[in-house]
Amino acid sequence: MIKIPKHIQNLQPYKAGKPIDELAREKGLTKIVKLASNENPLGPSPKAVEVIKKSLDELHRYTNPSAYKLVNAIAKKYNKKPSQIVTGSGSDSLLQYIVTTFSEGDNELLTSQGTFIGWYVNVNKYGFKSVKVPLKNYHFDLVEISNRISSKTKIIYLANPNNPTGTMFTKDEFDSFLSKVPENVLVVLDEAYTVYAEDNRDYPNGLEYEKENLIVLRTLSKAYGLAGLRIGFAFGPENLIKELYKVKLPFEPNHLAQEAAIAAFEDDEFLKRTVELNRKSLTKMIEKFNELGIEQVPTAANFILLIFPSEEFTFDFNEECLNKGLILRHVKTFGIPNGIRINSGTMEETDFALNVIGEVYPALLEKHKISLNT
Ligand SMILES: Cc1ncc(COP(=O)(O)O)c(C=O)c1O
Repeated sequence: MIKIPKHIQNLQPYKAGKPIDELAREKGLTKIVKLASNENPLGPSPKAVEVIKKSLDELHRYTNPSAYKLVNAIAKKYNKKPSQIVTGSGSDSLLQYIVTTFSEGDNELLTSQGTFIGWYVNVNKYGFKSVKVPLKNYHFDLVEISNRISSKTKIIYLANPNNPTGTMFTKDEFDSFLSKVPENVLVVLDEAYTVYAEDNRDYPNGLEYEKENLIVLRTLSKAYGLAGLRIGFAFGPENLIKELYKVKLPFEPNHLAQEAAIAAFEDDEFLKRTVELNRKSLTKMIEKFNELGIEQVPTAANFILLIFPSEEFTFDFNEECLNKGLILRHVKTFGIPNGIRINSGTMEETDFALNVIGEVYPALLEKHKISLNT
């Protein structure tokens, strides 16, 4: 019998939003709207799609192992040195490389409760000790996180804006936090949703920082609409990036992903439409949720976290929405058992979702009141 290590036995695998075809099969539904994975409702960047078609004929070749063209394009776009950048199959992949490259033995990896589940999974699968500080009013509590740094702390993971809360910390808060972090502790700043937040003057743009112990992560899965291709990049000091290259699988991101990412970075018009639609969709949602009396966390990203009275209510809400063809994300596994995350959609998807929620929420209030009274 093969013995499975304890930390793998105990591991809760990453659970993604329910796929559309799975729900269609389960419930026999024809109309389904998925607002569960913070994807771009406009689809992929058209420029990326065009390039992918052209690159199909090159699939018999191994791609460039260091993603030379893509890395140079990123460096040029952000005015950095190519040696400060490494790309991977999504930022999730880079999170794994960061954990394996920089942690060992009894190191502690510090973060918040109620943040991106991908970080928790990547820490736990290697059996490292995860230290989680409670959220403060659904925000990262940077002061308390800095207070919890010990001689064993090796990495601190922050997401700004945070997933699943959508909240953001300001430049002042981040600067003050950084000043308290010792140089031998690595700060990982995950900026998956930066495109939606960067117009805010208080937003600390991670790429504007050059620090010996800071690595910034970006992804093309969200605003660039390329989640299915798997592309992300990390920016940091050359000496740390060099170590990540030793650990990275040589041919990731794959060839189509590398080519598509270069094209997507040039698609400013698509990005502009994406941000505009996000604002319009979320504004409509916020209005409706206010009207229904649903508690919501103010967001700086492309999704909203809804807060319900109990875990049981939240579970029922999610199930009832699924029954009506609306896929949302119950974020229990992120550490918020009474939270549902909904991302922005096309205006048609937004209307569909708001109609479903407008039926489900009042009915559940009624049901739960009845069960409370009896
Ligand atoms: C904060 C955060 N980081 C990273 C990721 C992973 O992105 P990718 O698709 O690039 O792996 C996500 C995806 O949901 C996220 O929310």
